[in-house]
Amino acid sequence: MTVFKLKFALIYLVSTVCAFVISPAAAQTPVTFTSDQDHQNMMDQLGIKALRPGPSGDEKAPNHANYDESRANPYPNVPDPLTMNDGQKVTTPAMWWDKRRPELIEMFSKYVYGRVPNNVPKVKWTVNTVDHEMIGFTPVIAKDVEGIVDNSSSPDISVHMHMMLVLPARAKGPVPVLMMFGRAAFPYPNEPAGGDLDKINKAWESVLIQQDPSLKQVFEQHPAWQPIKATPFQFPQLNEDGGLPNPWQLVAAGWGFALFDPASVQADDGAGITRGIIGLVNKGQPRKPEDWGALRAWAWGAARGLDYLETDSAVDAKHVGIEGVSRYGKAALVTMAFDQRFAMVLVGSSGKGGATLLRRNFGEAVESLTGGEYYWMAGNFMKYGASEGTFGSMTPGDIPVDSNELIALCAPRLTFISYGIPAKGDANWLDHKGSFMATVDASRVFTLLGAKGLAVEGDYRTAQMPPANTGLLDGQLAWRQHDGGHTDAPNMKYFIEWADKKIGHTATQ
Ligand code: GCU
Repeated sequence: MTVFKLKFALIYLVSTVCAFVISPAAAQTPVTFTSDQDHQNMMDQLGIKALRPGPSGDEKAPNHANYDESRANPYPNVPDPLTMNDGQKVTTPAMWWDKRRPELIEMFSKYVYGRVPNNVPKVKWTVNTVDHEMIGFTPVIAKDVEGIVDNSSSPDISVHMHMMLVLPARAKGPVPVLMMFGRAAFPYPNEPAGGDLDKINKAWESVLIQQDPSLKQVFEQHPAWQPIKATPFQFPQLNEDGGLPNPWQLVAAGWGFALFDPASVQADDGAGITRGIIGLVNKGQPRKPEDWGALRAWAWGAARGLDYLETDSAVDAKHVGIEGVSRYGKAALVTMAFDQRFAMVLVGSSGKGGATLLRRNFGEAVESLTGGEYYWMAGNFMKYGASEGTFGSMTPGDIPVDSNELIALCAPRLTFISYGIPAKGDANWLDHKGSFMATVDASRVFTLLGAKGLAVEGDYRTAQMPPANTGLLDGQLAWRQHDGGHTDAPNMKYFIEWADKKIGHTATQ
């Protein structure tokens, strides 16, 4: 063989090996679906021919949701958190921990929210920026942290989780932290002042004069004027109840908070399901029926955020809570139910898929969650909205679990279910009463585990929901409907007081 031929053979060999190594990844070009295409793909996988349409949220529309309490309970008997699937009664904490809780986790994973895959790649957290700020009269340290998910298995998809951790600067020891789903921005960026601001203004002046030399004269005529001014103190936008904004209340009470951006884990739409963390694990392919939906993905992200908090010595990692409102209220409850490291939760106006009974027919329906909002849930959940399929039809009454059991999964940890009132915009769509019924029924599990349940116990079908502003805040399980709108802000001071009392915390700054 000539040298030339040998070289050629070597090149051929190397390129064949490379093609072999690279081609499996190349075959996995991420699928780009519209939300409708992805929805249809899941219907096809499940053998669903038709879904019942969800009701309209517009109370004047002919197909509006049911708001007639006499028709609200077509499946009045919800599954019992304290009865095993084989009919045995759960009578001891050991039975709950060893048998019933795992059984419920399995059913919620398989049929409702989907499973977190075993092979989710590792996350590397980095502190990008540290800012020293003031929130009201409290000095804080704000850390902008980023969790980069290893995407070597699918380099076309990247997931950079974003969290803002804000801690009171003068705390004498580790502080409890409330993680809140939402935009992760610096709360009050520290501005340059005094001599630094003067320097910036001088530089700015010369840049402007360079750009337009005639400005030299203008600056000379106004020697005391500065193009950039310190932002004047602005009184914060108060909560609906006249209270200070949530971050102000938290840091003043000696708490830290972490703003966790759910969109940085998983997009809030069906078209995004082949991207984000779900898409990354699936190598850009559509989900299978048991795969996780966005709620479980957001909850997974929050749990990774907690991994980071556990490494920060200024955080009391045994007392980290999770909070969210509306769809993020659902995500907060799911986070708390699945990951027992979270010590407390504030569930704001969560509705169906959150604290409200799936079996109730009042406002938002299961059919809403199998229609436009299907990607929040596991694909399998769609079956319960099916009017026609290879398996026949199914209804909410066929769901093997319900939200009383989701709340029960939080026991005996601190669980605060919060709502506002319809008159102020926390719409009937959310079914406050259905959430109250679920909370009442879950209370038995808190009691079994040695915690204090809700002051109103007994039969969830007949339990009386207290009027707005009457909190049931004695137990580890708490309920309060404030008299504001679609927010949990007016309940924040009750939450802090309640949690402080239960964990024995007082501000040390
Ligand atoms: C819709 C949706 C709810 C959701 C809410 C929100 O109303 O039906 O499930 O909680 O949006 O997140 O704003």
